[in-house]
Amino acid sequence: MQPSDAKEVLASVMEKKVIDRLLYVDPVTGERVVHEMEIPFYKNQLRLLIGNNIKLDPTSIEDYLAIGGYAALEKAVCQMKPEQVVGLVKESGLRGRGGGGFPSGNKWEFTRNAPDPVKYVVVNADEGDPGAFMDRALLEGSPHAVLEGLIIGAYAIGAHEGFLYVRQEYPLAVHNITLAIQKATEYGFLGKNILGSGFDFTVEVAQGAGAFVCGEETALIRSLEGKTGEPKPRPPFPAVKGLWNKPTNINNVETWANIPLIINKGPAASLP
Ligand SMILES: Cc1cc2nc3c(=O)[nH]c(=O)nc-3n(C[C@H](O)[C@H](O)[C@H](O)COP(=O)(O)O)c2cc1C
Repeated sequence: MQPSDAKEVLASVMEKKVIDRLLYVDPVTGERVVHEMEIPFYKNQLRLLIGNNIKLDPTSIEDYLAIGGYAALEKAVCQMKPEQVVGLVKESGLRGRGGGGFPSGNKWEFTRNAPDPVKYVVVNADEGDPGAFMDRALLEGSPHAVLEGLIIGAYAIGAHEGFLYVRQEYPLAVHNITLAIQKATEYGFLGKNILGSGFDFTVEVAQGAGAFVCGEETALIRSLEGKTGEPKPRPPFPAVKGLWNKPTNINNVETWANIPLIINKGPAASLP
């Protein structure tokens, strides 16, 4: 489309008409396509997570509540034991979306079973891969889904403090997630005695300074501790000795965002 088409497009919207000459042409069949979901590339896609972006004002917690937001948190902390939550995530087969594909439920269990009573959970939102923007799309467009997943994970793992490590080159993501944390605290989804369950949890946002290596979990931990962001040899794994030498579970943004889906709709709801 060109700016010169704008007048005609506006008129066609008002009249609920389709402008044939401006329709998308399928490069394979040469046919014109009227609806986006009829385009072969999109036809078989399931937008389980970012599908909500078009339904939400990301700065409005009420919008998220209106589509069933925080129902999974209520179910997890009020109706399920932490071990049951871990079990469900294991059963879902969910694998980490940060690149390594490690089974998330198993990682949660390692951290949960680590003997130290003080544990941490972390969202890895460093997203340093050139051209990648799936984590950004979620944090900017559906921040409460990430936050809800994190709170449920903290409950399951037994953590009372969490961190969201986000690159500072994503100012809108930083803004929207910071606002989401404030709103969730006001609504009683964060802080002391969450939803009357007796579970306490708080989250802090930490901003990375654009070092690609700080997306690697051990370097991220060092950066969070205020040290030079350099990877450390493993073992010990963060699940045993992570942030300030405490058991720490780090998951990617998208991994966390899958959790409410699994709690709400069952272990088959997410893709493994
Ligand atoms: C050099 C390097 C950079 C990485 N950058 C990221 C990143 O930007 N985001 C991310 O989630 N994981 C990144 N990872 C993977 C993390 O170390 C870690 O495996 C991941 O955050 C775990 O979360 P997951 O189990 O949900 O995938 C990186 C790994 C390496 C080796």
